[in-house]
Amino acid sequence: MKAITVEPKKAGTARYEDIPEPDVHEGSVLVEAVAVGVCGTDVEIVEGKYGWAPPGKERLVLGHESLGRVIDPGPSSSLKKGDLVVGIVRRPDPIPCPNCAVGEWDMCRNGQYTERGIKEIHGFMSERWRIEPEYAIKVDPTLGILGVLLEPTTVVTKAWAHVISVGVRTFWEPRTVLVTGAGPIGLLAALIGRRRGLDVHVVDRITSGTKPELVRDLGATYHSCAVSALGFEPDIIIECTGVGQVIAESIQSVSSCGIICLTGVGQGGHVSKAATADVAASAVLKNTVIIGSVNANKRHWYRAGEILARADRTWLSRLITRREKPENFKQALERKPDDIKVVIQFAEA
Ligand code: BGC
Repeated sequence: MKAITVEPKKAGTARYEDIPEPDVHEGSVLVEAVAVGVCGTDVEIVEGKYGWAPPGKERLVLGHESLGRVIDPGPSSSLKKGDLVVGIVRRPDPIPCPNCAVGEWDMCRNGQYTERGIKEIHGFMSERWRIEPEYAIKVDPTLGILGVLLEPTTVVTKAWAHVISVGVRTFWEPRTVLVTGAGPIGLLAALIGRRRGLDVHVVDRITSGTKPELVRDLGATYHSCAVSALGFEPDIIIECTGVGQVIAESIQSVSSCGIICLTGVGQGGHVSKAATADVAASAVLKNTVIIGSVNANKRHWYRAGEILARADRTWLSRLITRREKPENFKQALERKPDDIKVVIQFAEA
């Protein structure tokens, strides 16, 4: 079968090639790939900056934002042929650490977790893949191809859950939320913020086109200026850019007792004008909490499934701005200014 593979930590090694059918040890459920979303992590892996091949192997099958159709459910009684499923990305570490032992693999303590398409387990960018039934999440069949948005939705569902659990540390009545970055993660974070009845603001560099429209159609407010120029102090900031300057300005702009949740992974950039001690002083004096959030566990996958199932299909479908064939994976990995979510489509949903 055909797959998109890469030699991790070596730039320019990605290719669309023939590989053997998935091994039965990878799971008793056999799935036909429908679509796989592309995200910044995939780009980093292809650029040789991130990723690990399975032990003893040179190459890794890429892809962690899956959607597939069950071909053979195996002995699983919860799945049947034809079900649309998405594969959970992370697997607990083998020891396991206390968090993995209780199913909170997203909070793994020893870093020995594995991740499909990222860290030591093959991903979903192959014509067929296998999965353990307990890691296959059934999606609402009426979502069709939109089910490919489930994985990024789990990431923001977890971020929101952590913001809420931090918020209740004190008397808390959040009203405004700022989302920095109007990519898929930012827009899905804004969707959840509106669901929670909050006054949602989204800031991004882009000044026109689909992103501002999508934000307005949620009943949220779009801004294209610096965070420091917004003129209000958000109670919650969901940071989805990973850009140092945006992060520093977020810390200084958040309201007293505010919470900043960092979801973007960036690197380098310009050193912000604000000295670390000044940023920290602002955090101390305002009781600010800054949390990092990565991945998601089954609780978040369940919730995210509900969020997507209830979301407006037309709005969701506008998040998928480009569909590419697997053989054109290189174009799929290129970031174009109007792109929100690009998916590689293997079969009709
Ligand atoms: C994925 C997460 C993963 C993280 C770190 C993200 O792109 O969505 O599932 O945990 O990368 O590898």
